[in-house]
Amino acid sequence: MKIMVVGGGGREHAIIKKLNENKDIEKIYALPGNGGMKDDAQCVAIGAKDIPAIVEFAKANGIDFAVVAPDDPLVLGCVDALEEIGVHCFGPNKAAAIIEGSKVFSKNLMKKYGIPTAAYEVFSDVDAALKYLETAPIPTVIKADGLALGKGVIIAMTREEAVDAVKSMMEDKVFGESGSNVVIEEFLTGPEVSVLSFTDGKTVVPMISSMDHKRALDNDEGLNTGGMGTIAPNPYYTEDIAKVCMETIFLPTIDAMNKEGRTFKGCLYFGLMLTPNGPKVIEYNCRFGDPETQVVLPLLKTDLLTVMKAVRNETLSDIKVEFKDMAACCVVMASRGYPGKYETGFEIKVAEDCEAEVYVAGAKLDGDKVLTAGGRVLGVVAVADDLISAVDKAYKEVPKVTFDNAYYRSDIGQKAIKALK
Ligand code: AMP
Ligand code: GLY
Repeated sequence: MKIMVVGGGGREHAIIKKLNENKDIEKIYALPGNGGMKDDAQCVAIGAKDIPAIVEFAKANGIDFAVVAPDDPLVLGCVDALEEIGVHCFGPNKAAAIIEGSKVFSKNLMKKYGIPTAAYEVFSDVDAALKYLETAPIPTVIKADGLALGKGVIIAMTREEAVDAVKSMMEDKVFGESGSNVVIEEFLTGPEVSVLSFTDGKTVVPMISSMDHKRALDNDEGLNTGGMGTIAPNPYYTEDIAKVCMETIFLPTIDAMNKEGRTFKGCLYFGLMLTPNGPKVIEYNCRFGDPETQVVLPLLKTDLLTVMKAVRNETLSDIKVEFKDMAACCVVMASRGYPGKYETGFEIKVAEDCEAEVYVAGAKLDGDKVLTAGGRVLGVVAVADDLISAVDKAYKEVPKVTFDNAYYRSDIGQKAIKALK
């Protein structure tokens, strides 16, 4: 069996390593993958957004099953194009991927179907948005409608910041056309939880909950990043809260997408905030989270390809999806300076006695050396019986992975450990 994984980051590396546990898989191609995956997949220099080339490659190489992991190709219709030539895929089609592709769509969906989320207004006219801000409650949250590399959300703590955010998105177009429409929404408070779920449009199977650490520096200071580390499970996400989420958020969302004629099949990611008024949706993603995947998939007991095929074939209710009763911690090692300017090209070395999994996000090959090639370079992931041990183990292993100018947070998991106590 030949598998193709579209994408090239740490999330894709975690997916590939998990798929490799299935002995029926002879070969995994990564498009484009990265130099740090060379032992786990054959990397092919085709960009994740180059859908015609992806389709050609699948045809020419007899691909049996494709996993489309990143948001861009999903929103652009990569799954539709592959399914059309008969390649079965894990991932939502274009009509369903809009749940992440347009914040205006997802906010309106939640309003229409009574799914709890922050109150909001949508603006396509900059003057109307600025007028609204004159009296809007502060802090407030400004979101560009479309995909913006995870940067299209600004939490404005003052009215001036809110005005600047609206002007930069709508007038200066810092996120391009993504900012033509903006959502201005209520500022919510409470612990955040990421819940990735498998769904075939009929059944929804939440995976183990997780917690991201988005800010660049310790104590949640510094700039927003793509994620500096994760832990799973998230201790704030109790069984009672899970039940409430299933009834008020997960099932209603699947149902709403069906009613809209946009049946969602794939990994639906619920970004939740546990507010004093109950769990609310902060965002939907139409894909596995990064770096959430790096802590969730190592805890999956069931064969990943079996689950992905059941999602594709709408037979998810026929299988049992099981997770290990353990915990995981991922510490992201980044290039110093990220998410601002940083240097690359430094050799990455992993000591032979390293007991952690290393999922590589930003690296390239130079002969047989692996060099840094991105902001987030890799994630060091440890699995253990409980959260404290997983965090301890991850930090014990981190020094065994080295490259010049490496930077990582030293407090991944500390908030969660405090919540446990
Ligand atoms: P996103 O890019 O949509 O993941 O948003 C980035 C971060 O902004 C989230 O993880 C939250 O921490 C924060 N955020 C988004 N929306 C809100 C909101 N309505 N209230 C408070 N924080 C928010
Ligand atoms: N870690 C957040 C995301 O994948 O969007």
